[in-house]
Amino acid sequence: MPRPPARTALVSGASAGIGEALARRLAREGFDLVLVARRARKLQALAAALTAEFGVKAWVHAADLSAPGAAAALSAAMKRARRPIHLLVNNAGVLQVGEFKAQPPDRHRQLIELNVLALTQMLAHFVPPMVKRGRGQVLNVASIAAFQPVPMLATYAATKAYVLSLTESLAEELAGSGVTVTAACPGITATPMLGAAKQQAGRLERLPGFVVGDADDVADAAVRACLAGEVVCVPGVLNQAATLAGRATPRWLLRRVSGTLARRLK
Ligand SMILES: NC(=O)c1ccc[n+]([C@@H]2O[C@H](COP(=O)([O-])OP(=O)(O)OC[C@H]3O[C@@H](n4cnc5c(N)ncnc54)[C@H](OP(=O)(O)O)[C@@H]3O)[C@@H](O)[C@H]2O)c1
Repeated sequence: MPRPPARTALVSGASAGIGEALARRLAREGFDLVLVARRARKLQALAAALTAEFGVKAWVHAADLSAPGAAAALSAAMKRARRPIHLLVNNAGVLQVGEFKAQPPDRHRQLIELNVLALTQMLAHFVPPMVKRGRGQVLNVASIAAFQPVPMLATYAATKAYVLSLTESLAEELAGSGVTVTAACPGITATPMLGAAKQQAGRLERLPGFVVGDADDVADAAVRACLAGEVVCVPGVLNQAATLAGRATPRWLLRRVSGTLARRLK
């Protein structure tokens, strides 16, 4: 039997961490890949490795997605290359740990520009062609921080709440269009982002190992959920229990508990 034509997945933030694991997991599924992040060399090395290991095609597009017009330029580049994107992964994100008032104003802007604005622009450019084709899948990487206020991660948690809300609205809006939208909400995961967070808040070093997830496990759960068209995916039993408990807890109590835990990070 001839193999079905390969489908192409675009993964943002593919040069490290969860994005790299997602790219690898999608390559294992047989997707050709467009790998996007700022560090071209890392992406090229990954592209070569995925082609060698899985026999898929992988193209590199180095870009700072928080730059104005970046999503438009990426979408135009895909059109010029006649490369329709069948599965879009919005994974690139930045984190800042610490008190809101201690962060320079520009840091808040950077978080919002990448985690919120760039993600929305990517959706605005890549979803309409999917709807036109009557088929497509989107995977937005949010966080368990999306479900509750998180002092010491205030702006970050707010950006992830935005990602979750937008995903749920879009998923419903696009029901019946052939396009599905999934939010993956990982808990704490061992990636360079966690390494950087530990430098900002030394007490994170003392996190017990069992609360730190593995990027490959997160990618596996997220890709499965995306391909099944599920709307919200929380990888890992512990994180699922935490979000369930959070939903069953009055919001005022959740804020207090979250605040008490956060103060211990100082
Ligand atoms: N790690 C966790 O504990 C955790 C938990 C929940 C959710 N998440 C979410 O999962 C996603 C991936 O996190 P991670 O832990 O894998 O992070 P990471 O290790 O820091 O990797 C982030 C990726 O995003 C890319 N990136 C950063 N800024 C960019 C920009 N301006 N333009 C384009 N690409 C950019 C980075 O590549 P370049 O530097 O090459 O651009 C890198 O590939 C994020 O959305 C994060 O919020 C992480």
